[in-house]
Amino acid sequence: MIGDYTFSIIKPNAVRTGKSGPIMAMINEAGFEIAAMKMIKMTKEQAESFYEVHKSKPFFEGLIEFMTSGPVLVMVLRHENAVEEFRKLIGATDPNKAEQGTIRRTFAVSVQMNAVHGSDSDENAQKEANFFFSTSERFL
Ligand code: RTP
Ligand code: MG
Repeated sequence: MIGDYTFSIIKPNAVRTGKSGPIMAMINEAGFEIAAMKMIKMTKEQAESFYEVHKSKPFFEGLIEFMTSGPVLVMVLRHENAVEEFRKLIGATDPNKAEQGTIRRTFAVSVQMNAVHGSDSDENAQKEANFFFSTSERFL
């Protein structure tokens, strides 16, 4: 149901340094249920399409290079008011501005390598979930 789901990515820096488990524990403790999950290595085309809204930004090329630099965990999460609640749990884009106890404050190493992605609207959550998962890969 729209409104109850969000889409998330554990980004390459966090997967590479063994932070997937601790991040999943925080997600679990915050009450999110996993509706879908898998490990993939994004192609350049996938990353460019996923971050299309940032195409004209100066950080776009670096962002694509980073997001394709290694495997990521993509997932669909269920929670009441999921999009907003998950954005609260991950904290601000810049880890220095993220609140204490948030995932980014805890695991991000820079604005770019900020450990996790979370959808910014219900519409984008649905779009992003459908971009990475087929209906047979979703369980909630
Ligand atoms: P995300 O989409 O990954 O959940 O992050 P967000 O909404 O908090 O931030 P957004 O503005 O959508 O930016 C997308 C991702 O681009 C990288 N970024 N780098 N170097 C920079 O100034 C810069 N700004 C953004 C980050 O990895 C950010 O998460
Ligand atoms: Mg964003």
